[in-house]
Amino acid sequence: MNTLTGRSDRRAGFPSVARLAVISTLAMLAACERPPVDVVQGGYRGTGMVTLINPRMDALQAPNNRVPPPLPAAPTAGPLAGSVYKNVQVLKDLNIAQFARVMVAMTQWVAPPDQSCGYCHSVANMASDQRYTKVVARRMLQMVRHINSDWKSHVGATGVTCYTCHRGHVVPQQVWFESPGESAGGGMTAANPDLYSPLATIGGSSLPYDPFTPYLLHAMPIRVNSTGALPDGNRSSIQQTETTYALMMHMSTALGVNCDYCHNTRSTPIWSTSTPKRVTAWYGIRMARELNVDYMTPLTATFPTARRGVLGDVAKIDCATCHQGIFKPLYGVSMAKDYPELEGTMTPPAPAATPAASAGSAPSGASGGATTR
Ligand code: HEC
Ligand code: HEC
Ligand code: HEC
Ligand code: HEC
Repeated sequence: MNTLTGRSDRRAGFPSVARLAVISTLAMLAACERPPVDVVQGGYRGTGMVTLINPRMDALQAPNNRVPPPLPAAPTAGPLAGSVYKNVQVLKDLNIAQFARVMVAMTQWVAPPDQSCGYCHSVANMASDQRYTKVVARRMLQMVRHINSDWKSHVGATGVTCYTCHRGHVVPQQVWFESPGESAGGGMTAANPDLYSPLATIGGSSLPYDPFTPYLLHAMPIRVNSTGALPDGNRSSIQQTETTYALMMHMSTALGVNCDYCHNTRSTPIWSTSTPKRVTAWYGIRMARELNVDYMTPLTATFPTARRGVLGDVAKIDCATCHQGIFKPLYGVSMAKDYPELEGTMTPPAPAATPAASAGSAPSGASGGATTR
């Protein structure tokens, strides 16, 4: 309003209210998704468990989910990298052609184009571990092989490569850090309004904004419904409920789906009426937690301060790090099948720390994989 010219006074009254109404209606409609949308049924008929897919919104996401063409396959014969090079600790089982193929692929997937091999190597001495990026990349190689061979309960035959998370960036676009306040059930959660910021990571909801520390780093129970009566069986609190919903909002946003992609919302806890995707998600939670505990956290001191969060913690993995808004990362296209070098059958080194055993009961019918986590 311009009080100096008094213009707003002349425009006051019905016409400006009407104009405002028209403008705000247009603004509201602009935020709506224009029909038609495709409907995919995910549950029994009549349960309303449907996923709405808007082809126009999908088209917007396509550029970020295009898979780069695979490099030509490497010959399978040749001397082993472990015997030719001086400081090969992980890719010992590859011949030098396969080894070189992985180096070129990693350069494309992770390193900035102007830095190439020099992003990880001090080029005067390729065997040197002077650059922290090389030390991190070595652990990432172990992590990728571990995911592809030991977490088939989540990633199936599709698997992952560095590109699943990095997409040509040195730092994956979606990572999380611990929040400065207390979280999940701590008294501060209720007292500190900052913990209820409507962040995009939790779908813009006004819920505790860090559901990650309790669930994707520690193994707090993800519960709303208690399974028993007071005083001992009823363990679910309001804080726990809120943080559980925040995680669910994150999972839905990260996958670009609604709650009924996994749940029959008639009763969210019941496994028998949930979709099989909920079982995959259950493993996904355990996998993300394990990657954060066994792979990311032990790298904390390796990263320079500038890469760490306000509490000095390392950047960590959530559902969006791989999924980036899509129900299956890169729409389920398997890059890993073109990179048998990253398949890996190695046994990972002993975990640096083990999260407390999950209080959550395993989904019925789930077998194999890391069910105890
Ligand atoms: C993203 C980080 C990264 C990039 C980029 C990268 N490397 Fe490497 N390189 C590594 C890691 C990690 C190792 C050690 C692998 C192991 O321990 O199994 C390694 C080892 C090597 C070695 C073995 C050195 C020795 O004597 O021990 C050579 C040779 C090599 N890389 C060449 C290259 C070339 C050429 C490029 C560019 C096309 C390149 N690398 C790009 C991470 C990288
Ligand atoms: C599951 C997701 C994921 C996968 C898969 C993954 N990374 Fe990472 N990577 C991360 C996260 C999270 C970070 C920490 C971000 C940061 O640097 O602060 C990271 C950091 C790095 C860094 C340090 C970047 C910097 O400049 O500080 C390098 C180098 C790296 N990754 C290489 C690789 C390579 C090579 C592969 C494949 C062998 C790979 N990553 C696979 C999640 C992943
Ligand atoms: C990608 C699958 C998936 C989506 C989408 C999803 N959930 Fe969940 N939900 C799960 C899994 C898996 C668990 C069990 C977690 C555990 O025990 O580790 C769960 C647990 C819950 C629980 C706790 C139930 C109990 O036992 O007390 C509630 C409540 C819940 N979800 C609500 C929601 C809501 C609301 C949404 C939408 C905002 C949603 N979920 C979206 C997979 C999903
Ligand atoms: C390391 C990368 C990675 C992370 C982290 C990850 N996922 Fe996945 N997820 C995948 C891949 C790859 C697939 C495809 C598997 C396939 O094709 O069978 C997948 C598939 C799924 C599916 C099955 C989708 C369908 O339509 O069948 C669900 C549900 C899912 N993920 C949920 C989650 C949740 C929830 C989280 C976080 C707690 C998560 N994922 C974290 C890589 C990841």
